[in-house]
Amino acid sequence: MRVLILNGPNLNLLGEREPEIYGSDTLDTLEQQCRERAAALGIEIEFAQSNSEGEMVDLLQRHRDRDGVILNAAAYTHTSLALADTLAAFEPPVVEVHLSNIHAREEIRRQSLTAPHAWGLISGFGFRGYLAALDLLHARLSEGAGE
Ligand code: DQA
Repeated sequence: MRVLILNGPNLNLLGEREPEIYGSDTLDTLEQQCRERAAALGIEIEFAQSNSEGEMVDLLQRHRDRDGVILNAAAYTHTSLALADTLAAFEPPVVEVHLSNIHAREEIRRQSLTAPHAWGLISGFGFRGYLAALDLLHARLSEGAGE
């Protein structure tokens, strides 16, 4: 079972970026927590971050043979038709994750162009959202749950 975890722009700054919204833990800590959960579930993960929309499209295209994707496209969630098109042409189940509750923030963040192409969306639970996404993908892939 192989899963891509892809993080979008500015998530490399976790820990120093608006800690009142995103917390004080870093992307390295998030990766570590995801690796531990994935190992316990027997999932092989690739953990990536990019500040570039085109590179995110390339990464998704290159990993379209994966069993699942966890995507936090960050600000591109709200703006990127290119990422939405990529997901529309994408087979593996995608769990869209946001650290913050995008529906409790500014109006523009309440719209996700990518969510209609996702299996589901987790928003507002910090790092736990990624761990829950791993659990959900594992359940779907091993038991056929949620199909
Ligand atoms: C985010 C929410 C987005 O609106 C924002 O642009 C981000 C992070 C989140 O994880 O809460 O960069 O995706």
